[in-house]
Amino acid sequence: MHHLLTLEHLDRTAITGLLDRAEGFRRDGAPRDLLLGRTVLTLFFEHSTRTRTSFVLAAKRLGADNVNFDLSHSSTSKGESLLDTLHTLEAMGLDALVVRHNENGMPKYLADHATTNVAVVNAGDGTHAHPTQGLLDALTIRQRRPDLENLRITICGDIRHSRVARSDAQALHALGVNDIRLCAPAAMLPQTLSEFPGCATSEDFDAAIGGSDVVIMLRIQKERMAAAQFPNAADYHARYGLDARRLALAATDCQVLHPGPINRGIEIAAEVADGPQSRILDQVANGVAVRMAVLTDLLTPPA
Ligand code: NCD
Repeated sequence: MHHLLTLEHLDRTAITGLLDRAEGFRRDGAPRDLLLGRTVLTLFFEHSTRTRTSFVLAAKRLGADNVNFDLSHSSTSKGESLLDTLHTLEAMGLDALVVRHNENGMPKYLADHATTNVAVVNAGDGTHAHPTQGLLDALTIRQRRPDLENLRITICGDIRHSRVARSDAQALHALGVNDIRLCAPAAMLPQTLSEFPGCATSEDFDAAIGGSDVVIMLRIQKERMAAAQFPNAADYHARYGLDARRLALAATDCQVLHPGPINRGIEIAAEVADGPQSRILDQVANGVAVRMAVLTDLLTPPA
């Protein structure tokens, strides 16, 4: 692996290897000097709390230098093109460039135009992919249920605009999950299932959640949606919100995931987000370990 742009082409062995490495970092910690002398630059064109912070922590915990590119004070705000920015940063001696952008394919564009050996990591591009989120969600689920092939998993919310849903579906399918249900109102279901291998769709959340071992809730991505498509929050909560009544329809030990940021009272009720079945903060903790595993994989030569 030279870049991590999507999970589309990673097979079970590759994904399992990254999850095992992340699990090892969580269990045993990591050598503080593993990436000593390497430079990881985080370049975020969209807001982020968890993803950016966990990449920064991951780099620092492995001993790498981290530079957080401050877009509001950079020359991109003076109109410097993205490629000029890339080449300028490369000239400073970068090893990894972690990039989030609102346009699909921008991390790949940068990877294709890099003139050095820099490894590009996609930290979320438009509606396309969020590979490290897909990995950390798979790790979180696997920690409680290693028998992934037996699981019924429901992903509910704004699937159409969600890069998380795409990367989750690809990771889980590659790991052998056979029953993945995508649930949303018609306007938020994907127009094609080509990026959702092995998934079925439903507009009925009560039916979809029945017997689920895992439910992954998603935020409505208003920023990627025309105003006319945005539903009334109360109606949405009534039909697609996860509250205690609905969670009771799932398997008794059903795990509840959400990539954050959560909108309490819209896609998820506070009683569930803060309840005993919620894995939301475990996802955050796993996020650091997964990003450490990805940076290590990209920046250290194979043993
Ligand atoms: C997600 C993202 O930005 O794609 N958040 C995250 O990375 N934890 C999901 C979202 O913004 O709803």
